[in-house]
Amino acid sequence: MSDAPQSAALDRERRTWIAITCGVGAVGGVATAVPFVSTFTPSERAKAAGAPVRVDISALQPGEKLTVEWRGKPVWIVRRTKEQLASLKKTDALVADPKSDRTQYPTPPYAKNEFRSIKEEFLVAVGICSHLGCSPSDKFTPGAQPSLPDDWAGGFLCPCHGSTFDMAGRVFKNKPAPDNLEIPPHMYLSDTVLLIGEDKKA
Ligand code: FES
Repeated sequence: MSDAPQSAALDRERRTWIAITCGVGAVGGVATAVPFVSTFTPSERAKAAGAPVRVDISALQPGEKLTVEWRGKPVWIVRRTKEQLASLKKTDALVADPKSDRTQYPTPPYAKNEFRSIKEEFLVAVGICSHLGCSPSDKFTPGAQPSLPDDWAGGFLCPCHGSTFDMAGRVFKNKPAPDNLEIPPHMYLSDTVLLIGEDKKA
């Protein structure tokens, strides 16, 4: 099981969310869906820390991103534009694991598709780089810019060691990060409410 080169660092339960403040997300920030755990008893806190998080996405506009916290990790919800969705065709040949077949962070079956999502517009991904745990920055604007190729189609850049990810969170080839961004278990409770951390109806 622990055959990956940086297995200790990559252990999902032990990864640390290193907050990188440069290039803060375009909009939203951390939503207020997180339980106020500091007032709980230790057992309540433990339960809340692992509890699924409901997120209202009704105000999220195309091209915007919302970040919520689930199990101490940042989870991004990105409402992709038509252009961003179209860019995935172009990046298909450039990413290391285009079909999300790798199993270090298994992609749920309902997100093993072209868009890595349940609804094509909405990407739901854990915002932690699969290399050493930094949080990548939004680089949604296409085109040449520092640290990115001239034909950049939009995506995310991890400032720690330069790994880049496309608009589906797929890591580009020949980067330090070994895997795509993790897709957490999630489901839609309605058209505008997402549940992060659970994907089956009770
Ligand atoms: S932690 Fe992201 S590239 Fe190293």
